[in-house]
Formats: sequence, structure tokens, C-alpha cells
Amino acid sequence: MFNLILFGPPGSGKGTQSERLVEKYGLIHLSTGGLLREEISNKTPLGIEAKKFMDHGQLVPDEVVIGMVDSYFDQHKGAAGFLFDGFPRTVAQAKALDRLMTLKKTDIALVLALEVSEGELVKRLLNRGKTSGRSDDNNEEVIRKRFAVYMNETSPVADYYKRVKKFKAIQGEGSVGEIYTALRQTIDKAMASHHN
Ligand code: AP5
Ligand code: MG
Repeated sequence: MFNLILFGPPGSGKGTQSERLVEKYGLIHLSTGGLLREEISNKTPLGIEAKKFMDHGQLVPDEVVIGMVDSYFDQHKGAAGFLFDGFPRTVAQAKALDRLMTLKKTDIALVLALEVSEGELVKRLLNRGKTSGRSDDNNEEVIRKRFAVYMNETSPVADYYKRVKKFKAIQGEGSVGEIYTALRQTIDKAMASHHN
């Protein structure tokens, strides 16, 4: 299996690039934000609970998200690999993911982090908010809150993967195609030396 994490702040292009990468490499796209939004639109108890956090730009509790990831993983037996988008977002989630990888006798091959300035991120998210229907996009205060949560709770996850030398920063500003090319080059190199 080849498992990849696409890391980066809100609006950095994780979803946009994931769509292309899963197609190219035959991976399963595991977007925790996407799964949570699906629960919300189906009005499940999990969705109703999660919405309270998401509407305020806060993280959904770790145990909820980890449970969701575990069951999604089990629903895709035989997958060539997973692309994790928006997960892990806390060190506790990263540790839970390590446990899951060990249990499944696989590992995280690479963490790719999209780097984008805050000014550009706000611009992208407010722009998307005009059409996305995402309640966390159309209010600048909620967007700023998402960045603060990213700084405080999610950026330590980068250090977690730097320590094990799996972390690669990628310039996330430029055209979608340019960024995709840079991601692909890094993935191809990692794939050539990855065995399990
Ligand atoms: P989630 O859905 O993960 O959202 P996010 O991380 O805040 O990021 P976005 O999806 O907004 O941005 P993105 O990086 O995917 O960029 P995109 O490609 O869309 O999480 C939402 C909420 O769910 C969280 O706040 C939390 O409450 C909860 N949640 C999710 N996961 C969780 C977890 N693990 N634990 C706890 N809670 C969790 O691009 C953004 C925009 O920019 C688009 O309009 C796009 O078209 C545009 N764009 C993309 N690339 C470019 C480019 N190169 N140039 C110009 N524009 C571009
Ligand atoms: Mg996204």
C-alpha cells in the first residue's frame, strides 16, 4: 500500500489537488471534512453533533473523527492506498493513525504540505463562500478562527512527521497545474523507494 497525507491550512488546495492525485495514482480519497459534510447533509446524529463545531471553525472531537476514519478504512479493503485530506489534524489523531497503520501492516509513506500565505487563503475561501454553501466559508470571522485552530492544534502535526523524515513542503501558490506537477514529482520519487 502507498498511503499519503496532504497537509495544509484551510484553503491551501488539499481538496483540489486530491481529486487529481487519487485519479492519477488509484488511491482512495479520505477527506474527513467531506465525510463530515456528508453526515450533515444526511442529518445523521454524528452530522448534527459535528455541525455545531464546524459552523464555528472548531475541530470535531478526536474520537468522532478517528472512529469515522477507522470505519472508512475497513470499508475499502484491497485498496492500493489512501490519500488522507484534512486528517490528521491533531497529534492525537496522528498517533491514532499510526496505530491503524501498524494494525493494517502498512505505513504513511509521505506527508505533503501545501504552503500558502494567509492573505491568499482568505481570498480563496471568501471567494468559494459565494457559491460553496459551506457555512464555514462565508464569514471572515469563522475563517480566521479556522486559521487559529490550524496554528494551535494542527501545525504540531507537521513537527510530528518532520521528526520521522516523512514531511515535504510544497509551494501551494501558483496555478493548479503547476502545483499538481510539483506534487507528482515528489510522489513519484517517494514511490520509487517505498516498499511494503
Ligand atoms: P475541511 O473540509 O478539511 O476544510 P479545511 O481544511 O478547512 O480546508 P478546505 O477544504 O476549506 O480547503 P482545501 O485545502 O481543501 O482547499 P480547496 O482545494 O478546497 O474541514 C472543515 C471542517 O471540518 C473543519 O473546520 C473541522 O470543523 C472539521 N474537520 C475536518 N476534518 C477534521 C479532523 N480531522 N478533525 C477534526 N475536525 C475536522 O481550495 C480552496 C479554494 O481555493 C477553492 O475554491 C479552490 O477552487 C481554490 N483553489 C485551489 N487551488 C488554487 C490555486 N492553486 N490557485 C487559486 N485558487 C485555488
Ligand atoms: Mg478540503
